[in-house]
Amino acid sequence: MTMTTLSLTTTDPAKARTDVLVIAAYAGSDGPVPADPTFADGVAAAAMTGASGKAGELTLVPGDGSVAAHLLAVVGLGDREKFTPEVLRKAAGIASRALAGKVAITSTLGLIDLSAAAQGHLLGAYVFDRYKTPSKAPVETIALSVAKNDKAAKALLRHAVVTAEGVLLARDLINTAPNDLYPESFAERATAAARTAGLSVEVWDSEQLAAQGFGGIVAVGSGSARPPRLVRIGYSPTGAKKSVALVGKGITFDSGGLSIKPSVGMENMTSDMSGAACVVATVIAASALQLPIAVTAWAALAENLPSGSSYRPGDVIRHYGAHGAPGKTTHVLNTDAEGRLVLADAMVRAAEEEPDYLLETSTLTGAQVVALGNRTMAVMGTDSLRDRVAELAREVGEGGWAMPLPEELRESIDSSIADLQNVNWDRVAGMLVAGHFLSCFVPDGLPWAHLDVAGPAFNTGKPYGYNTSGGTGVPVRTLLAVIADLAGPS
Ligand code: BES
Ligand code: MN
Ligand code: ZN
Repeated sequence: MTMTTLSLTTTDPAKARTDVLVIAAYAGSDGPVPADPTFADGVAAAAMTGASGKAGELTLVPGDGSVAAHLLAVVGLGDREKFTPEVLRKAAGIASRALAGKVAITSTLGLIDLSAAAQGHLLGAYVFDRYKTPSKAPVETIALSVAKNDKAAKALLRHAVVTAEGVLLARDLINTAPNDLYPESFAERATAAARTAGLSVEVWDSEQLAAQGFGGIVAVGSGSARPPRLVRIGYSPTGAKKSVALVGKGITFDSGGLSIKPSVGMENMTSDMSGAACVVATVIAASALQLPIAVTAWAALAENLPSGSSYRPGDVIRHYGAHGAPGKTTHVLNTDAEGRLVLADAMVRAAEEEPDYLLETSTLTGAQVVALGNRTMAVMGTDSLRDRVAELAREVGEGGWAMPLPEELRESIDSSIADLQNVNWDRVAGMLVAGHFLSCFVPDGLPWAHLDVAGPAFNTGKPYGYNTSGGTGVPVRTLLAVIADLAGPS
């Protein structure tokens, strides 16, 4: 993946010698209203072809005498009263996608909100080209117009670029096919990326996992010829007063195991390592941003396959136990409820280091998709952290909603022969029951949030806004916002 290059420019956009100039219009009661009156002619030309300025709209019109650019791309921002940074992010993403094949463009969207414009343009320009060369190459360079190219503008740009790099690293990992991305190769890529960033890395192989009692990760990985791994990446800036642990589900392919899934749609389970990809990308971005808080990312990696060596429904496994204590036992009733099994081990191991906060993310349940769809993550956990995470998810444009862990559901995963069972018999509230299961592995008093991104992590449909098909990189931007929030002012 080569990322589109962004730069800042104070050149009068009307005079910019560029292939395409991106301008914006709001939706007015009688047609599009230029965001910048300088470009009234261009917007009027777009209106002639039917443009209304509604959000999501993009109209190409030839440059007229009033601008130096050959072509104008007029993006709609909708009702001015309803404007949010997310509207601009999406518009910038749509412009980047529509302008693939162009070499150099100039965008006036930076004059409205530099950070949102930069992120939307970068995320929208992304193309995953490992297996196929796109018919049109992504835009090479985008010059963002700013009033002043000062320290503040440069800092905003850098923050947006680092954040986008994080999202795109996650997308690249998610989009890599499972024959190329399996626990060992994931661990290698994560190690290489983390080392480049100057972070400490530790990798547990399957022998070490077995010897140290990671019964969940070992069981889930046992059916595959490609053994499981656990990866720890640490960022620990001097003087940090707080620490946060990130734990990600890294099932590099989820067939369901012996409780095998139907074949229709099974190919999408190549995205079941999105949580792990996102925590790896987040710790690297947090370090690049030099956030004043220690961050440790844990990727629990396994491939869930049926075979003669698979774990079975009926097995009782023992999870990792903190400080040498025996871990909890789980009666496996369904090998397709595997995410919680690998996460339980990793969460106990992460909590052993006594972080101040624990954030865990996973493509955990189909029930999340049923409840909230493909663009809103579910957030569960301890009340105040949960609510903060959901709010920040909405703020960054990833979408999130707080979900409860109702008391009465907890006993549905009590087992008669083990501490827990991995599914409830009646199958009600699958998302919440999974949250309850994970809560059993969080030490008392540790603020914890569980981000179920089963729907939002992977776009099985057409591109929209700044998302392409495939991995979205959700929830990298939420995690970064939460970490920055927990760190406090730097
Ligand atoms: N990885 C899946 C959840 C999933 C479903 C993610 C759809 C993305 C899109 C998870 O491992 C799973 O299979 N969950 C089961 C749990 C059930 C057996 C209790 C599910 O949701 O059906
Ligand atoms: Mn599964
Ligand atoms: Zn899964």
